[in-house]
Amino acid sequence: MTSLLHRSAVVVVALMFCRPAPAQTTHPFGTSREANVHNALADAISEQKVEALLQKMTLEEKVGQLVQYSAGQPTGPGTGRTDYEDMIRKGEIGALFNITTARQVNAYQRMAIEGSRLHIPLLFGLDVIHGFRTEFPIPLGLASSWDPELVEQAARVAAREASASGVRWTFSPMVDIARDARWGRMAEGSGEDPFLGAAMARAYVRGYQGSRLDAADSIAACPKHYVGYGAAEGGRDYNSTEISEHTLRQFYLPPFRAAVDAGAATLMSAFNSLNGVPASANPFTLKQILRKEWGFQGIVDSDWTSIAELIGHGIANDGAAAARKAFLAGVDMDMASSLYHDNLTQLVRSGQVSTAALDEAVRRVLRVKFAMGLFEHPYADETKEAAAMLQPESILLARTAAERSFVLLKNADFSGGAPLLPLSKETKTIALIGPLADDRNSMLGSWAGLGQPEDVITLRAALTQKLGGERVHYAKGAEIIGGSDEQLAEAVKAAEQSDTVILALGENAAEMTGEAASRAHLGLPGHQEQLLEKIVATGRPVVLLVFSGRPLTLPWALENVPAVMATWFPGVQAGPALLRTLFGEANPSGKLAVSWPRSVGQEPLYYDALSTGRPTGDTDLTHPPENGDGKYVSRYIDEQNSPQFPFGYGLSFTSFRYGTLEIDRKQLSAKALNEGLHSSGQPADAVLNASANITNTGTRAGEETVQFYIRLQGTSVAQPVRALSGFQRITLAPGETKRVTFRLGPEVFSLWNDQNKFAAEPARVTLWISPDSSRGAEATLQITN
Ligand code: NOJ
Repeated sequence: MTSLLHRSAVVVVALMFCRPAPAQTTHPFGTSREANVHNALADAISEQKVEALLQKMTLEEKVGQLVQYSAGQPTGPGTGRTDYEDMIRKGEIGALFNITTARQVNAYQRMAIEGSRLHIPLLFGLDVIHGFRTEFPIPLGLASSWDPELVEQAARVAAREASASGVRWTFSPMVDIARDARWGRMAEGSGEDPFLGAAMARAYVRGYQGSRLDAADSIAACPKHYVGYGAAEGGRDYNSTEISEHTLRQFYLPPFRAAVDAGAATLMSAFNSLNGVPASANPFTLKQILRKEWGFQGIVDSDWTSIAELIGHGIANDGAAAARKAFLAGVDMDMASSLYHDNLTQLVRSGQVSTAALDEAVRRVLRVKFAMGLFEHPYADETKEAAAMLQPESILLARTAAERSFVLLKNADFSGGAPLLPLSKETKTIALIGPLADDRNSMLGSWAGLGQPEDVITLRAALTQKLGGERVHYAKGAEIIGGSDEQLAEAVKAAEQSDTVILALGENAAEMTGEAASRAHLGLPGHQEQLLEKIVATGRPVVLLVFSGRPLTLPWALENVPAVMATWFPGVQAGPALLRTLFGEANPSGKLAVSWPRSVGQEPLYYDALSTGRPTGDTDLTHPPENGDGKYVSRYIDEQNSPQFPFGYGLSFTSFRYGTLEIDRKQLSAKALNEGLHSSGQPADAVLNASANITNTGTRAGEETVQFYIRLQGTSVAQPVRALSGFQRITLAPGETKRVTFRLGPEVFSLWNDQNKFAAEPARVTLWISPDSSRGAEATLQITN
């Protein structure tokens, strides 16, 4: 787990942690980093094989390669067909998904290999989102670790397990920028920031695909949902999005670009309409940006029936029109809607779709199949399947990941003593209360792959094992939604009998987070707020653990409970990881990947917003404006602008001091920066070093994620009040100081300008090295002409 960087006293931010190369036709990274599918595949296959096969294929067989069906537990509304076996033998299916065992995979694969004329293997996919059998924390939790190396390792474990069951393709990572906590799918992604999102996108792709796609334990990644899906209006899943080209390029595209540059073999088009044009029929994003600007050569898969949904969107009046529009816009494969199967042959015959375009799409599918070694090794080894699951080192990694995902939000003293956490080992009795204390299913999180409830150790199990049953007073207290007076009374009694209370409250993972789980209210559901208040009223010290797929609005708790930790849904090792953290064997180091709102009315809420002409900073509501000065600014009259906790925030059991920020240049020239951007075809050299000393001022060792932010002013297009442009996790012993250096390339000082080109401009620059997005050590410089 220890990274090279962690071992070094002088921490240099590796190039991959610098702001990702944004997309632009002329951007040099575009060519050199197109180690995307085409290059990655080049040594694994020969184009001749693809061509030779293509020559033999009938029109129907070609179309078949672009057809994909779910043959297991459905993950969307009803689809057109179920007679897959017959279709496979006729060569009318290219990919299947939602099949989860090697035996089933092999049975279908045999039909394709032995039963179809050209013996083309099927590609088998599944939503392996945060683990296959060994479930890790949900992606929002993994992102809170700010530890891409850890995420890569978790994705590797998922790939090893999934491939052992014959699943060679995952519909992951979800790299949608999520700025609105009402959107249930915030849980599935890496939060609100494009830089962190890009770092995580690369980590997932590397982890899934390994060093070679044709290794038996590699699975193809599928970054999704391209693009803008997270900006759903009102946070309502599947809803429309309006995103300007500038905002798209600056905020929404970078994680996709990073995934493509890391070599993602496939990509999924989204459900949402984008500026009126559905993302699954959007030639601007699919052809212009993805194919032309980024050179993506992999497969574009639709989302589940998103081609058929073009009719619902109102841009197609029948299946044939939907298939034509999606295909011509650049969607290669039709997931679940059957419309390519039913219409593409005729569309080609009638000349509405050219044979050349069809061949190109088929080539892309075949290339991926060759690159994955499926022609040589189409079958999974059933004898090795069971042994691949839940290996001890995978479980240990799941525990580490869970520990790093926890974000300590508050840790105050209780009645004048030391901070409540970590709990003393001498604590005699603990009341463990709440519907999430012993809920194995929710610990797995949404989209839990093959994760089984029996694989999970809950907090109740772990705590009871550690302290013994007589020292743990467990009471459920309430259901996640609902509950009874008896449950409440029992919980109060348990609290009164105990020295300390741990409350485990929050959401139900499967029903309240993930797809189709948008919420208009972000408080604790059901009776849980009432339970919380009753337990606090007992006067016992209370630690609140918040299990959720998004930040929840908890104003009363944050005011009245001394210790509060966001624990997301931590996976199979929830209990051990929580226990070790609560008792101080692990020191929390997670930082928020999303801004934590005070109230739902603040959403969408994100730190990297633009300033306005009437900025406020924050508004002190205790002094309502009496004259024009404070009134006519961008604010609510009944809520502060600032979040409850900012992006990047998270406490530790120790404390850190940030020294002054030193930069080795006070002036940069836009001309030189632009030359650097366009010079070599390689990521450009650093143009500026920014350093600060970070000291552990507490008495425990701890890990800190040091963040680097930038603001540009005076530019052609307004820039965010801050933008994350680097981060580094460091470990510090008590009293230890490390110097952290960020080596910044020209891209850090550049922006998407008013021509939607990525370039440097003269600007005033403010830089921060900081523990979160709201403060830090500051320096300024100028970019001249
Ligand atoms: C629909 C979801 O939007 C997508 O994320 C998922 O991969 C597919 N269903 C397949 O299950």
